[in-house]
Amino acid sequence: MVYTSMVWYILVYTIPFKGKKMIILMGQTKGGVGKSMLSANLAVYAVHEGKNVLLIDADKQQTTSKWASVRTVEQVKPVIQSATLAIDKRTDAKAFAKKIKALSEEYDDVIIDCGGQDSRELRTSLAIAECLIAPCRPSQADIWGLGDLDDLVKQVEAINPNLTATAIFNLADGLNVHNALGQSKEAIEELDCIQLGDVKILSRPTLASAYQDGQGARDLNQSKEPAKKATAEIAKLYNIIYG
Ligand SMILES: Nc1ncnc2c1ncn2[C@@H]1O[C@H](COP(=O)(O)OP(=O)(O)O)[C@@H](O)[C@H]1O
Ligand SMILES: [Mg+2]
Repeated sequence: MVYTSMVWYILVYTIPFKGKKMIILMGQTKGGVGKSMLSANLAVYAVHEGKNVLLIDADKQQTTSKWASVRTVEQVKPVIQSATLAIDKRTDAKAFAKKIKALSEEYDDVIIDCGGQDSRELRTSLAIAECLIAPCRPSQADIWGLGDLDDLVKQVEAINPNLTATAIFNLADGLNVHNALGQSKEAIEELDCIQLGDVKILSRPTLASAYQDGQGARDLNQSKEPAKKATAEIAKLYNIIYG
């Protein structure tokens, strides 16, 4: 009995727990919905949670790469590992997918930030990701974007049946937001593949200013109420992926 307990003790406390590795894709065919800002915040949150995460910028605009450079120059800790990867003359879709899969073996998780249009990077990432997070403002234009994305997810279903696709509300405040949220929820419920996640991120100056400084909400001093509220919203996003 004592021996069995000792074996369990050794197994539980000395062997590092390896959760399932995940390729997480932040994707929407619409721009300005918060993909880059939320990718960075998710990476920051995950690293603070002790995960070894790689943030991949697959958008030719390279917003995430610029955020990562600011973080490096400002020496913000903890360090976030990042890489820039695109499909171009040197890297075709197959090489892009192969590279991300190889990188995902080196990290606990990989977070891909894709550009805001139906790109080859988005389609290829949909074929290899386990988890798609699609930020969406409660607006008709964003819902149309989600409809296009839902069609893409449906197209890859046969080759990537493991993909879960979740829409989350970002910038979900402002005038008439109550009605807009209600209508958007109804429209998302009609989609074939994308589900609505229980996350609502408000428009928060704290998130915007932290982002500008190469930071995420979780890096900020949590004794301040705005930082605490922003971090709590990012925690909800983290939990729908890992929870
Ligand atoms: N919840 C939020 N609160 C405050 N600012 C936000 C929020 N979400 C996004 N932003 C800001 O909106 C702009 C567009 O976001 P971004 O992440 O670049 O969108 P995308 O990558 O989808 O094009 C950025 O300036 C970003 O900092
Ligand atoms: Mg972006």
